[in-house]
Amino acid sequence: MRKIHIFDTTLRDGEQSPGVNLNTREKVEIAHQLEKLGVDRMEAGFPAASPGDLAAVNAVARAVKNASVVGLSRSRQGDIDAVREALKGAVDPCLHVFLATSPIHRQYKLKMEKHQVLEAAQSAIRYAKKYFSKIEFSLEDAGRTEADFRAEMVAMAIREGAYVINIPDTVGYLNPEEYGGIFRHLKETVPGIEKVQLSAHCHDDLGMATANTLAAILNGADQIEGTINGIGERAGNTAIEEIAMALETRSDYFGAKTSLVLSEIARTSRLVSKLTGMNVPGNKAIVGANAFAHESGIHQDGMLKEKTTYEIMSPETVGFKESKLVLGKHSGRHAFREQLLELGYTLEEEALNEAFAKFKDLADKKKEITDDDLLALLEERLPDAPEQYRLESLSFSFATEEAPTAKVQVSVQGEEGSRAAESGGNGTVDSIYNAIDQAVGEEVTLVDYSIQAVTLGKDALGEVHVTMRQGDTEVRGRGVSTDVLEASARAYIDALNRLAENRRVPSGRKGAEKVWES
Ligand code: KIV
Ligand code: ZN
Repeated sequence: MRKIHIFDTTLRDGEQSPGVNLNTREKVEIAHQLEKLGVDRMEAGFPAASPGDLAAVNAVARAVKNASVVGLSRSRQGDIDAVREALKGAVDPCLHVFLATSPIHRQYKLKMEKHQVLEAAQSAIRYAKKYFSKIEFSLEDAGRTEADFRAEMVAMAIREGAYVINIPDTVGYLNPEEYGGIFRHLKETVPGIEKVQLSAHCHDDLGMATANTLAAILNGADQIEGTINGIGERAGNTAIEEIAMALETRSDYFGAKTSLVLSEIARTSRLVSKLTGMNVPGNKAIVGANAFAHESGIHQDGMLKEKTTYEIMSPETVGFKESKLVLGKHSGRHAFREQLLELGYTLEEEALNEAFAKFKDLADKKKEITDDDLLALLEERLPDAPEQYRLESLSFSFATEEAPTAKVQVSVQGEEGSRAAESGGNGTVDSIYNAIDQAVGEEVTLVDYSIQAVTLGKDALGEVHVTMRQGDTEVRGRGVSTDVLEASARAYIDALNRLAENRRVPSGRKGAEKVWES
């Protein structure tokens, strides 16, 4: 079977999803999980975008031992130097350098003629060759590039010594036949094509990212690029879990395989969802909550008689297992640690103590603690630096026929009880948010609010996600509690802390927006 290399770009293209800002610690945490999943390469960010992104890429580069860590760069020496700096300490560093090649991008964005594009890319690869043995070159918007110019650019990149050549459908415009045809054409016509790996990189604007990527594999792509849960710019990127399971389930058809540890898919999906604040839709293929649920009587009957009637893959293959009741308030540290190990978490002493304290707190409020509860607690966000704001106390009053009010006390930079405020609002959540706004004195807009139960039952943990905007910065926040109003307050404070962190160290995405067009 042909091996298909997996290039994960959750930490770069995935982080370009609106409102997603991962701090360094979160990037490293996801990177470790991607290592467990067994990705071959992971793109950790765009170091030239901001000092924050450079530092985060460097932290990932130093932490990861079992995958190649990749840094993105435009075709400019300054960007390449930033990737050099960021990848110091990486076991297997790789530069990913790109330049747009399509007529639309050449005319409107780059204002360059074909020969100028070719020369700029050529000199960037030549410069990069002095410092990197592994270079991936991407023809941005390759999908809308003229076939002959695309082939000329690929031939140039081969001559200059690129090791992977990526053919992105940057705007998700193509259909599988067209996209696959590009790979076939390059394989058949470009001299020296056998010396490089061809890579597929698709976006999902027309819902065809997975199909296009599979078409590329059928036509000779050696590597595929994608993200966990398909997050990414606009409608997102190809979902890696979909490709992995398509190749696994239909190996008879594709004749290709990946080195992914499939049973890590569910955990990776969950971690990415929690840390990015991007919920996985219930009907999402492979990792959605309903992906293995059977509702209709006919289906349930079939499943009871023989699973393969309605199940083409088993939930266990991707790491979903029945959520069993595990711990309660009498459980000790030993059982707690064992259960975390079972869930794939090895915590250092300090983190374990912190998690155990949270668990005991929860066990006081909730009789039975399930795996999902534990995961929800463990995946609460860890800040890079002391938090700007902390919710010290919250009280509210609500009665039918009366206007709700809320009182909060918020500490600022660790000073207890430093800000208190009381406010009313259209509902209790609105009152809480108005009171927090007054207490912290920040001008913010709530863009989105969503709530869901982590498990079943009246005492289930509630998980709230908010999206908040300040100026042109958008962030997400998450809060978990047995009380949905407390969870709402925590999510709001989490988002405020992300804004504060973003002011301290501007995130890659924000920086990238500023420099991306040039
Ligand atoms: O979609 C795209 O073209 C990209 C490039 C930077 C590879 O993400
Ligand atoms: Zn992309």
